[in-house]
Amino acid sequence: MDYLCQPARDIRGSLRVPGDKSISHRAVMFAAIADGSSRVTGFLPGEDCLATLRAFAAMGVPVERLGDTELRIDGVGMHGLRAPAQPLDLGNSGTSMRLLAGLLAPQAFEVTLTGDASLTRRPMRRVTEPLTRMGADIGTSADGTAPLQLHAPKAPLRAIDYRSPVASAQVKSAVLLAGLYAEGRTSVHEPHTSRDHSERMLRAFGVEVESGDGFAALEGGQTLRAADVEVPADISSAAFFLVAAAITPGAELTLEAVGLNPTRTGVIDILRSMGADLTVHDERTLGGEPVGDITVRGGRLHAAEIAGEVVSRAIDEFPAIFVAAACATGETVIRDAAELRVKESDRIRTMVDGLRALGVSAIAEPDGARILGGRIHGGVVDACGDHRVAMSLAMASLRAEQPIRIRDCANVQTSFPGFREAACGVGLDLRVLQAGGPDA
Ligand code: S3P
Repeated sequence: MDYLCQPARDIRGSLRVPGDKSISHRAVMFAAIADGSSRVTGFLPGEDCLATLRAFAAMGVPVERLGDTELRIDGVGMHGLRAPAQPLDLGNSGTSMRLLAGLLAPQAFEVTLTGDASLTRRPMRRVTEPLTRMGADIGTSADGTAPLQLHAPKAPLRAIDYRSPVASAQVKSAVLLAGLYAEGRTSVHEPHTSRDHSERMLRAFGVEVESGDGFAALEGGQTLRAADVEVPADISSAAFFLVAAAITPGAELTLEAVGLNPTRTGVIDILRSMGADLTVHDERTLGGEPVGDITVRGGRLHAAEIAGEVVSRAIDEFPAIFVAAACATGETVIRDAAELRVKESDRIRTMVDGLRALGVSAIAEPDGARILGGRIHGGVVDACGDHRVAMSLAMASLRAEQPIRIRDCANVQTSFPGFREAACGVGLDLRVLQAGGPDA
Protein backbone atom coordinates (compact mmCIF):
# COMPACT_ATOMS: atom_id res chain seq x y z
CA MET A 1 0.00 0.00 0.00
CA ASP A 2 1.32 3.46 -0.94
CA TYR A 3 0.43 6.98 0.13
CA LEU A 4 0.15 9.80 -2.35
CA CYS A 5 0.56 13.14 -0.58
CA GLN A 6 -0.23 16.35 -2.45
CA PRO A 7 1.49 19.48 -1.18
CA ALA A 8 -0.58 21.09 1.59
CA ARG A 9 0.01 24.52 3.09
CA ASP A 10 -1.98 24.72 6.31
CA ILE A 11 -2.62 22.54 9.29
CA ARG A 12 -5.18 23.53 11.84
CA GLY A 13 -7.61 22.31 14.48
CA SER A 14 -7.36 19.79 17.26
CA LEU A 15 -6.79 16.09 17.37
CA ARG A 16 -6.60 13.23 19.84
CA VAL A 17 -4.28 10.58 18.46
CA PRO A 18 -4.80 6.91 19.44
CA GLY A 19 -3.68 5.35 22.71
CA ASP A 20 -0.07 4.87 23.75
CA LYS A 21 1.42 1.70 22.28
CA SER A 22 3.86 0.96 25.10
CA ILE A 23 1.18 1.42 27.76
CA SER A 24 -1.42 -0.60 25.82
CA HIS A 25 0.94 -3.61 25.55
CA ARG A 26 1.74 -3.48 29.24
CA ALA A 27 -1.92 -3.11 30.26
CA VAL A 28 -2.75 -6.37 28.48
CA MET A 29 0.28 -8.24 29.82
CA PHE A 30 -0.09 -7.17 33.43
CA ALA A 31 -3.87 -7.59 33.50
CA ALA A 32 -3.43 -11.11 32.07
CA ILE A 33 -1.23 -12.29 34.96
CA ALA A 34 -3.09 -10.36 37.67
CA ASP A 35 -5.65 -11.79 40.07
CA GLY A 36 -9.08 -10.43 39.15
CA SER A 37 -10.71 -8.56 36.33
CA SER A 38 -9.14 -5.42 34.82
CA ARG A 39 -10.64 -2.88 32.46
CA VAL A 40 -8.51 -1.02 29.92
CA THR A 41 -9.81 2.16 28.28
CA GLY A 42 -8.13 4.14 25.50
CA PHE A 43 -6.44 0.91 24.31
CA LEU A 44 -4.60 1.21 21.00
CA PRO A 45 -6.28 -1.18 18.55
CA GLY A 46 -3.20 -1.21 16.29
CA GLU A 47 -1.76 -4.44 14.91
CA ASP A 48 1.14 -4.54 17.41
CA CYS A 49 -1.07 -4.41 20.49
CA LEU A 50 -3.60 -6.76 18.90
CA ALA A 51 -0.72 -9.24 18.47
CA THR A 52 -0.12 -9.05 22.23
CA LEU A 53 -3.84 -9.48 22.88
CA ARG A 54 -4.05 -12.53 20.59
CA ALA A 55 -0.99 -14.04 22.27
CA PHE A 56 -2.66 -13.96 25.70
CA ALA A 57 -5.97 -15.22 24.31
CA ALA A 58 -3.95 -18.15 22.85
CA MET A 59 -2.55 -18.78 26.35
CA GLY A 60 -6.03 -19.10 27.83
CA VAL A 61 -6.65 -15.56 29.11
CA PRO A 62 -10.30 -14.48 28.74
CA VAL A 63 -10.28 -11.17 26.89
CA GLU A 64 -13.43 -9.28 26.00
CA ARG A 65 -13.43 -6.38 23.54
CA LEU A 66 -16.03 -4.05 25.08
CA GLY A 67 -15.49 -1.60 22.22
CA ASP A 68 -12.78 -0.62 19.77
CA THR A 69 -10.60 0.86 22.51
CA GLU A 70 -12.00 -0.80 25.61
CA LEU A 71 -11.15 -4.24 26.99
CA ARG A 72 -11.98 -6.44 29.92
CA ILE A 73 -9.32 -8.94 30.84
CA ASP A 74 -9.94 -11.66 33.41
CA GLY A 75 -6.49 -12.26 34.84
CA VAL A 76 -5.37 -15.84 35.32
CA GLY A 77 -2.75 -15.07 38.01
CA MET A 78 1.02 -15.46 37.93
CA HIS A 79 0.87 -19.20 37.18
CA GLY A 80 -2.36 -19.47 35.20
CA LEU A 81 -1.09 -19.10 31.62
CA ARG A 82 -1.41 -22.22 29.47
CA ALA A 83 0.81 -23.47 26.66
CA PRO A 84 -0.48 -22.10 23.34
CA ALA A 85 -1.28 -24.66 20.64
CA GLN A 86 0.80 -22.79 18.04
CA PRO A 87 3.86 -20.54 17.99
CA LEU A 88 2.89 -17.00 19.01
CA ASP A 89 3.10 -14.75 15.95
CA LEU A 90 3.92 -11.24 17.15
CA GLY A 91 3.91 -9.64 13.72
CA ASN A 92 6.00 -6.46 13.61
CA SER A 93 6.07 -5.90 17.36
CA GLY A 94 9.43 -5.75 19.13
CA THR A 95 7.78 -4.81 22.43
CA SER A 96 5.58 -7.93 22.34
CA MET A 97 8.49 -10.20 21.61
CA ARG A 98 10.99 -8.82 24.10
CA LEU A 99 8.57 -8.38 27.01
CA LEU A 100 6.98 -11.77 26.39
CA ALA A 101 10.44 -13.36 26.36
CA GLY A 102 10.87 -12.13 29.94
CA LEU A 103 7.37 -13.02 31.07
CA LEU A 104 7.27 -16.46 29.44
CA ALA A 105 10.84 -17.64 30.08
CA PRO A 106 9.96 -18.65 33.68
CA GLN A 107 6.75 -20.51 32.72
CA ALA A 108 6.45 -24.28 33.03
CA PHE A 109 5.70 -24.78 29.32
CA GLU A 110 7.33 -24.51 25.93
CA VAL A 111 6.45 -21.70 23.60
CA THR A 112 7.87 -20.29 20.38
CA LEU A 113 7.81 -16.55 19.64
CA THR A 114 7.98 -15.50 16.03
CA GLY A 115 7.15 -12.51 13.85
CA ASP A 116 7.38 -10.90 10.43
CA ALA A 117 10.48 -10.36 8.27
CA SER A 118 11.42 -7.15 10.12
CA LEU A 119 10.98 -8.58 13.63
CA THR A 120 12.90 -11.77 12.86
CA ARG A 121 15.87 -9.64 11.76
CA ARG A 122 16.02 -7.58 14.98
CA PRO A 123 18.52 -8.29 17.79
CA MET A 124 17.15 -10.50 20.56
CA ARG A 125 20.38 -11.31 22.43
CA ARG A 126 19.89 -8.12 24.42
CA VAL A 127 17.05 -9.98 26.19
CA THR A 128 18.06 -13.64 25.83
CA GLU A 129 21.50 -12.97 27.32
CA PRO A 130 20.34 -11.62 30.73
CA LEU A 131 17.43 -14.09 30.81
CA THR A 132 19.84 -16.99 30.19
CA ARG A 133 21.99 -15.73 33.05
CA MET A 134 18.88 -15.98 35.22
CA GLY A 135 18.58 -19.66 34.25
CA ALA A 136 16.17 -19.38 31.31
CA ASP A 137 16.46 -21.88 28.45
CA ILE A 138 15.95 -19.97 25.19
CA GLY A 139 16.89 -21.01 21.66
CA THR A 140 17.50 -18.42 18.94
CA SER A 141 18.85 -18.50 15.40
CA ALA A 142 22.66 -18.59 15.06
CA ASP A 143 22.76 -14.80 14.87
CA GLY A 144 20.62 -14.32 17.97
CA THR A 145 17.36 -13.47 16.23
CA ALA A 146 13.80 -14.87 16.45
CA PRO A 147 12.10 -17.30 16.34
CA LEU A 148 12.76 -17.68 20.06
CA GLN A 149 12.18 -21.15 21.51
CA LEU A 150 11.39 -20.86 25.19
CA HIS A 151 11.74 -24.13 27.11
CA ALA A 152 10.52 -24.62 30.67
CA PRO A 153 13.49 -23.91 32.97
CA LYS A 154 14.77 -26.90 34.96
CA ALA A 155 14.87 -24.87 38.18
CA PRO A 156 13.28 -21.59 39.27
CA LEU A 157 15.00 -18.54 37.77
CA ARG A 158 17.69 -16.75 39.78
CA ALA A 159 17.49 -13.04 40.52
CA ILE A 160 20.08 -10.89 38.73
CA ASP A 161 21.75 -7.50 39.12
CA TYR A 162 21.96 -6.60 35.45
CA ARG A 163 23.96 -3.78 33.86
CA SER A 164 22.45 -3.24 30.42
CA PRO A 165 24.80 -1.80 27.79
CA VAL A 166 21.83 -0.05 26.10
CA ALA A 167 19.12 2.18 27.53
CA SER A 168 16.19 -0.03 26.60
CA ALA A 169 12.80 -0.25 28.27
CA GLN A 170 12.22 -3.53 26.50
CA VAL A 171 15.34 -5.07 28.05
CA LYS A 172 14.61 -3.56 31.47
CA SER A 173 10.99 -4.74 31.38
CA ALA A 174 11.89 -8.25 30.20
CA VAL A 175 14.38 -8.70 33.05
CA LEU A 176 11.98 -7.25 35.65
CA LEU A 177 9.12 -9.48 34.47
CA ALA A 178 11.35 -12.56 34.70
CA GLY A 179 12.50 -11.23 38.08
CA LEU A 180 8.91 -11.39 39.36
CA TYR A 181 9.23 -15.18 39.10
CA ALA A 182 12.77 -15.38 40.51
CA GLU A 183 13.87 -15.78 44.09
CA GLY A 184 15.36 -12.58 45.52
CA ARG A 185 15.84 -9.07 44.23
CA THR A 186 16.30 -8.39 40.51
CA SER A 187 17.74 -5.04 39.48
CA VAL A 188 18.55 -3.38 36.15
CA HIS A 189 20.96 -0.51 35.58
CA GLU A 190 21.09 1.31 32.26
CA PRO A 191 23.17 4.15 30.81
CA HIS A 192 20.14 6.51 30.69
CA THR A 193 16.65 6.10 32.12
CA SER A 194 14.52 4.43 29.47
CA ARG A 195 10.73 4.78 29.49
CA ASP A 196 9.37 3.73 32.89
CA HIS A 197 5.83 2.61 32.02
CA SER A 198 6.46 -0.88 33.38
CA GLU A 199 7.58 0.43 36.76
CA ARG A 200 4.58 2.78 37.02
CA MET A 201 2.04 0.23 35.91
CA LEU A 202 3.43 -2.61 38.03
CA ARG A 203 2.95 -0.32 41.03
CA ALA A 204 -0.65 0.32 39.94
CA PHE A 205 -1.09 -3.48 39.92
CA GLY A 206 0.17 -3.64 43.51
CA VAL A 207 3.82 -4.60 42.95
CA GLU A 208 6.55 -2.87 44.94
CA VAL A 209 9.14 -1.49 42.52
CA GLU A 210 12.17 0.58 43.43
CA SER A 211 13.42 2.98 40.77
CA GLY A 212 15.72 5.93 40.26
CA ASP A 213 17.99 7.46 37.67
CA GLY A 214 18.91 4.64 35.24
CA PHE A 215 17.84 2.00 37.71
CA ALA A 216 14.86 -0.24 38.62
CA ALA A 217 14.49 -3.22 40.96
CA LEU A 218 11.89 -5.55 42.44
CA GLU A 219 11.62 -8.57 44.72
CA GLY A 220 10.57 -11.84 43.17
CA GLY A 221 7.46 -13.69 44.34
CA GLN A 222 5.10 -10.69 44.29
CA THR A 223 1.68 -11.05 42.73
CA LEU A 224 -0.35 -8.58 40.67
CA ARG A 225 -3.79 -7.33 41.69
CA ALA A 226 -6.25 -6.36 38.92
CA ALA A 227 -6.40 -2.64 38.13
CA ASP A 228 -8.17 -0.40 35.66
CA VAL A 229 -5.89 1.35 33.17
CA GLU A 230 -6.70 4.51 31.25
CA VAL A 231 -4.30 4.85 28.34
CA PRO A 232 -3.19 8.39 27.34
CA ALA A 233 -2.77 9.42 23.69
CA ASP A 234 0.60 8.31 22.33
CA ILE A 235 3.22 11.08 22.20
CA SER A 236 4.97 9.05 19.50
CA SER A 237 1.87 9.35 17.28
CA ALA A 238 1.35 12.99 18.29
CA ALA A 239 4.96 13.68 17.22
CA PHE A 240 4.13 13.56 13.49
CA PHE A 241 1.61 16.33 14.00
CA LEU A 242 3.83 18.34 16.34
CA VAL A 243 6.39 18.41 13.54
CA ALA A 244 3.74 19.02 10.86
CA ALA A 245 2.48 22.16 12.62
CA ALA A 246 5.97 23.32 13.64
CA ILE A 247 7.24 23.32 10.00
CA THR A 248 4.17 25.11 8.59
CA PRO A 249 4.25 28.90 9.03
CA GLY A 250 0.88 30.16 10.29
CA ALA A 251 -0.32 26.73 11.40
CA GLU A 252 -2.00 26.15 14.74
CA LEU A 253 -2.80 22.69 16.03
CA THR A 254 -3.70 21.23 19.43
CA LEU A 255 -2.96 17.62 20.36
CA GLU A 256 -5.20 16.45 23.18
CA ALA A 257 -4.53 14.26 26.24
CA VAL A 258 -0.99 13.44 25.14
CA GLY A 259 1.11 11.29 27.47
CA LEU A 260 3.84 13.49 28.96
CA ASN A 261 5.85 10.93 30.88
CA PRO A 262 9.25 12.65 31.30
CA THR A 263 11.02 9.59 29.85
CA ARG A 264 9.12 10.23 26.58
CA THR A 265 9.09 14.01 26.11
CA GLY A 266 12.44 14.41 24.33
CA VAL A 267 10.65 15.39 21.11
CA ILE A 268 9.18 18.46 22.84
CA ASP A 269 12.62 19.50 24.12
CA ILE A 270 14.23 18.93 20.71
CA LEU A 271 11.58 20.86 18.77
CA ARG A 272 11.82 23.74 21.26
CA SER A 273 15.62 23.74 20.85
CA MET A 274 14.96 24.21 17.12
CA GLY A 275 12.80 27.26 17.83
CA ALA A 276 9.34 25.64 17.67
CA ASP A 277 6.48 27.31 19.54
CA LEU A 278 4.94 24.55 21.69
CA THR A 279 2.71 25.23 24.69
CA VAL A 280 1.73 22.48 27.10
CA HIS A 281 -1.50 23.14 28.96
CA ASP A 282 -4.19 21.44 31.05
CA GLU A 283 -1.66 19.10 32.60
CA ARG A 284 -3.29 16.30 34.56
CA THR A 285 -2.79 12.65 35.50
CA LEU A 286 -4.38 9.73 33.68
CA GLY A 287 -3.85 6.20 34.96
CA GLY A 288 -0.63 7.04 36.84
CA GLU A 289 0.85 8.88 33.85
CA PRO A 290 1.10 12.66 33.33
CA VAL A 291 -0.86 13.96 30.32
CA GLY A 292 -1.59 17.36 28.85
CA ASP A 293 -2.72 19.17 25.72
CA ILE A 294 -0.04 20.57 23.43
CA THR A 295 -0.63 23.55 21.15
CA VAL A 296 1.86 24.14 18.35
CA ARG A 297 2.12 27.30 16.27
CA GLY A 298 4.07 26.99 13.05
CA GLY A 299 7.03 29.17 12.18
CA ARG A 300 10.68 28.99 11.17
CA LEU A 301 12.90 26.32 12.69
CA HIS A 302 16.66 26.41 13.02
CA ALA A 303 19.16 23.56 13.12
CA ALA A 304 20.19 21.88 16.38
CA GLU A 305 22.77 19.46 17.73
CA ILE A 306 20.94 16.46 19.13
CA ALA A 307 22.93 14.06 21.32
CA GLY A 308 23.17 12.53 24.80
CA GLU A 309 20.36 11.62 27.17
CA VAL A 310 17.60 13.35 25.18
CA VAL A 311 18.10 10.74 22.44
CA SER A 312 16.59 7.86 24.45
CA ARG A 313 13.72 10.14 25.53
CA ALA A 314 12.86 10.72 21.86
CA ILE A 315 14.02 7.47 20.31
CA ASP A 316 10.83 6.66 18.38
CA GLU A 317 10.37 10.25 17.23
CA PHE A 318 13.56 10.54 15.16
CA PRO A 319 11.92 9.88 11.79
CA ALA A 320 9.71 12.94 12.47
CA ILE A 321 12.69 14.90 13.82
CA PHE A 322 14.60 14.17 10.57
CA VAL A 323 11.75 15.88 8.69
CA ALA A 324 11.84 18.86 11.07
CA ALA A 325 15.61 19.09 10.43
CA ALA A 326 15.02 19.04 6.67
CA CYS A 327 12.80 22.13 7.10
CA ALA A 328 15.15 24.01 9.45
CA THR A 329 17.76 26.63 8.57
CA GLY A 330 21.27 25.20 8.87
CA GLU A 331 22.74 21.75 9.46
CA THR A 332 21.22 19.55 12.17
CA VAL A 333 23.61 16.98 13.62
CA ILE A 334 22.23 13.87 15.31
CA ARG A 335 24.61 11.68 17.36
CA ASP A 336 24.39 8.89 19.98
CA ALA A 337 21.44 7.39 18.11
CA ALA A 338 22.87 4.06 16.84
CA GLU A 339 19.75 2.35 18.29
CA LEU A 340 17.87 3.77 15.30
CA ARG A 341 19.66 1.19 13.17
CA VAL A 342 17.82 -1.71 14.85
CA LYS A 343 14.26 -0.41 14.92
CA GLU A 344 11.46 -1.63 12.59
CA SER A 345 13.87 -0.57 9.82
CA ASP A 346 17.36 0.91 9.92
CA ARG A 347 15.87 4.36 10.50
CA ILE A 348 19.10 6.24 9.83
CA ARG A 349 19.31 4.68 6.39
CA THR A 350 15.59 4.78 5.52
CA MET A 351 15.21 8.41 6.58
CA VAL A 352 18.43 9.63 4.93
CA ASP A 353 17.48 7.79 1.71
CA GLY A 354 13.94 9.17 1.93
CA LEU A 355 15.05 12.77 2.44
CA ARG A 356 17.62 12.52 -0.35
CA ALA A 357 14.97 11.18 -2.73
CA LEU A 358 13.01 14.36 -1.94
CA GLY A 359 16.00 16.56 -2.79
CA VAL A 360 17.26 17.22 0.74
CA SER A 361 20.97 17.04 1.49
CA ALA A 362 21.47 14.41 4.22
CA ILE A 363 24.39 12.21 5.21
CA ALA A 364 24.15 9.05 7.33
CA GLU A 365 26.67 8.56 10.15
CA PRO A 366 27.15 5.33 12.11
CA ASP A 367 25.24 6.72 15.10
CA GLY A 368 23.16 9.49 13.55
CA ALA A 369 23.00 11.86 10.59
CA ARG A 370 23.72 15.34 9.26
CA ILE A 371 20.76 17.01 7.62
CA LEU A 372 21.00 20.35 5.84
CA GLY A 373 17.63 22.06 5.83
CA GLY A 374 16.44 23.35 2.48
CA ARG A 375 13.90 22.90 -0.29
CA ILE A 376 11.86 19.71 -0.47
CA HIS A 377 11.13 18.88 -4.10
CA GLY A 378 8.81 15.87 -3.86
CA GLY A 379 9.18 12.49 -5.54
CA VAL A 380 8.94 8.78 -4.78
CA VAL A 381 10.26 7.46 -1.47
CA ASP A 382 10.28 4.04 0.21
CA ALA A 383 9.05 3.62 3.79
CA CYS A 384 10.54 0.08 3.76
CA GLY A 385 7.54 -1.20 5.72
CA ASP A 386 8.37 1.08 8.66
CA HIS A 387 5.24 2.75 10.07
CA ARG A 388 7.01 5.74 11.57
CA VAL A 389 9.06 6.40 8.42
CA ALA A 390 5.84 6.38 6.35
CA MET A 391 4.00 8.83 8.61
CA SER A 392 7.01 11.13 8.97
CA LEU A 393 7.61 11.38 5.23
CA ALA A 394 3.91 12.20 4.75
CA MET A 395 4.45 15.30 6.92
CA ALA A 396 7.12 16.55 4.49
CA SER A 397 4.25 17.25 2.03
CA LEU A 398 3.54 20.41 4.04
CA ARG A 399 6.74 21.88 2.63
CA ALA A 400 7.11 19.94 -0.63
CA GLU A 401 6.91 21.59 -4.03
CA GLN A 402 5.62 18.44 -5.78
CA PRO A 403 3.57 15.41 -4.68
CA ILE A 404 5.28 12.76 -2.57
CA ARG A 405 4.52 9.12 -3.22
CA ILE A 406 5.47 6.88 -0.29
CA ARG A 407 5.80 3.17 -0.97
CA ASP A 408 5.17 0.29 1.47
CA CYS A 409 2.99 2.03 4.06
CA ALA A 410 0.65 -0.79 5.17
CA ASN A 411 2.41 -1.12 8.54
CA VAL A 412 1.02 2.25 9.63
CA GLN A 413 -1.73 -0.05 10.98
CA THR A 414 0.70 -1.36 13.59
CA SER A 415 0.62 1.85 15.61
CA PHE A 416 -1.84 4.36 14.14
CA PRO A 417 -5.15 3.01 12.85
CA GLY A 418 -7.05 5.92 11.26
CA PHE A 419 -3.88 7.85 10.39
CA ARG A 420 -5.08 8.95 6.95
CA GLU A 421 -8.37 10.27 8.32
CA ALA A 422 -6.61 12.04 11.20
CA ALA A 423 -4.10 13.65 8.84
CA CYS A 424 -6.72 14.75 6.31
CA GLY A 425 -8.91 16.06 9.16
CA VAL A 426 -6.30 18.68 10.07
CA GLY A 427 -5.32 19.69 6.54
CA LEU A 428 -3.03 17.17 4.86
CA ASP A 429 -3.96 15.83 1.43
CA LEU A 430 -3.19 12.14 1.60
CA ARG A 431 -4.63 9.38 -0.56
CA VAL A 432 -4.12 5.66 -0.27
CA LEU A 433 -3.03 3.85 -3.42
CA GLN A 434 -2.74 0.09 -3.72
CA ALA A 435 0.79 -0.74 -4.85
CA GLY A 436 0.68 -1.95 -8.44
CA GLY A 437 -2.94 -0.73 -8.78
CA PRO A 438 -4.31 1.56 -11.52
CA ASP A 439 -2.75 4.65 -9.95
CA ALA A 440 0.70 3.11 -9.74
C1 S3P B 1 9.35 0.39 23.79
C2 S3P B 1 10.65 0.71 24.01
C3 S3P B 1 11.54 1.31 23.00
C4 S3P B 1 10.75 1.83 21.81
C5 S3P B 1 9.68 0.91 21.36
C6 S3P B 1 8.70 0.63 22.50
C7 S3P B 1 8.57 -0.21 24.89
O1 S3P B 1 12.44 0.34 22.54
O2 S3P B 1 11.62 2.12 20.75
O3 S3P B 1 8.98 1.43 20.27
O4 S3P B 1 7.32 -0.21 24.82
O5 S3P B 1 9.18 -0.69 25.85
P1 S3P B 1 13.77 -0.01 23.36
O6 S3P B 1 13.36 -0.39 24.71
O7 S3P B 1 14.40 -1.12 22.61
O8 S3P B 1 14.60 1.24 23.31
